[in-house]
Amino acid sequence: MEQQLTAFIYPFILFVVLGVVAPVLLANVADKAARRKDDDAGLSPVAASAPVEKSLYDQLGGAAAVDAAVDIFYRRVLSDAYIKVFFEGIDMDKQAAKQNAFLTMVLGGPNNYTGKDMRVGHKHLVEKMGLNESHFEHVLAHLRSTLAELGVGDEKVAEVIAVADSVRDDVLNR
Ligand code: HEM
Repeated sequence: MEQQLTAFIYPFILFVVLGVVAPVLLANVADKAARRKDDDAGLSPVAASAPVEKSLYDQLGGAAAVDAAVDIFYRRVLSDAYIKVFFEGIDMDKQAAKQNAFLTMVLGGPNNYTGKDMRVGHKHLVEKMGLNESHFEHVLAHLRSTLAELGVGDEKVAEVIAVADSVRDDVLNR
């Protein structure tokens, strides 16, 4: 009888050790190793799983914010005697739609821009109408005051202006 019990108990203990204890121990060791790797990389468990920062487009309020901004922006541009001459004869609904898609794209929103690239789109204005730095500054100023009017904070305004400013050389064909 005792022999029978021993014959049963040893395989049973072996089964428990291999089937239950060993996997738990191994999982523990693997987890610790992974944590050590994150620590080495300077990543806390929180930082390692933190979401990627929102695009400027999303931070501003997405499509509704860009719609409102483009609307106010062109109202300001068209009431500026120094630059409104450039827009004479231009279909402003189409222009606003293109500007909307362009800004959406460069601010990190959906990319649905199908218009011309900035160099091609403004070349004739530089060559035939003398589009220059001072006109560009007026446009940036209108964009800045538009965003301020919409309640966008100074820091975000500066970020958007930096994005707009990044096309300066293309717009002025330099
Ligand atoms: C941040 C700077 C600027 C941006 C992002 C911008 C954006 C655009 C875009 C997306 C278009 C449409 C291109 C197309 O036809 O497919 C466009 C066209 C145009 N832009 Fe600009 N622009 C900028 C600066 C300026 C400035 C400084 C002026 C003049 C004061 C200007 C005047 C025009 C005009 C008149 C058109 C229409 C040209 C035409 O259809 O013949 N833009 N711009």
